[in-house]
Amino acid sequence: MGVRVLANDQKPVLIVGGAQGIGKEIAERFLKEGHRVAVSDIDEQGLSLLKKQHSELLTFQADVSSWESVQQMISAAERELGGIAHLVYSAGMTKSLPFLEVDFSLWKKTLAVNLYGLYYCIKASAPYICERQEGSIVVIGSGSAITGSGGGIQYYASKAGAFGLM
Ligand SMILES: NC(=O)c1ccc[n+]([C@@H]2O[C@H](COP(=O)([O-])OP(=O)(O)OC[C@H]3O[C@@H](n4cnc5c(N)ncnc54)[C@H](O)[C@@H]3O)[C@@H](O)[C@H]2O)c1
Repeated sequence: MGVRVLANDQKPVLIVGGAQGIGKEIAERFLKEGHRVAVSDIDEQGLSLLKKQHSELLTFQADVSSWESVQQMISAAERELGGIAHLVYSAGMTKSLPFLEVDFSLWKKTLAVNLYGLYYCIKASAPYICERQEGSIVVIGSGSAITGSGGGIQYYASKAGAFGLM
């Protein structure tokens, strides 16, 4: 529903975490609607496959868990797209494990991608969006932030944090 509304305005769009899955579908829908679209992802191979399918697409390899990487990616995307009006955050990771099997490493990594990465991308792109005085930031959340099912506690916590941030 949200994508249909945004799809009418033809403004530049950046999809973070769009090399596959939901982000890829969203990117392809925006392309079909005639937007200038950039996709970023950590997955270099996924990005080059996507680029082969859609030569008009701009792609940027970046790790959302790194503030430096996000800053570089957002400023390159802004420059090459000619602005950022809409940011879609679809980067994410999940691993379904019982509570006692979730270790610090998985906890930190999931929060780094699903929550810190979201904050970094908003912090880096919001000045451009505000400067335009138009646009939007769309985040793919999850009902499991409230209900807790189908992931692991690290995932539910990260998604609840994302709701709070939004
Ligand atoms: N698929 C579902 O049923 C579902 C349901 C509810 C919510 N979601 C949420 O929607 C979003 C997209 O889900 P999906 O199913 O398309 O997942 P997916 O795994 O297919 O795609 C996630 C993308 O994020 C990228 N990514 C992972 N770590 C990254 C990092 N450090 N830096 C940059 N990119 C990174 C991956 O390479 C991948 O391309 C996620 O936030 C997920 O939690 C998905």
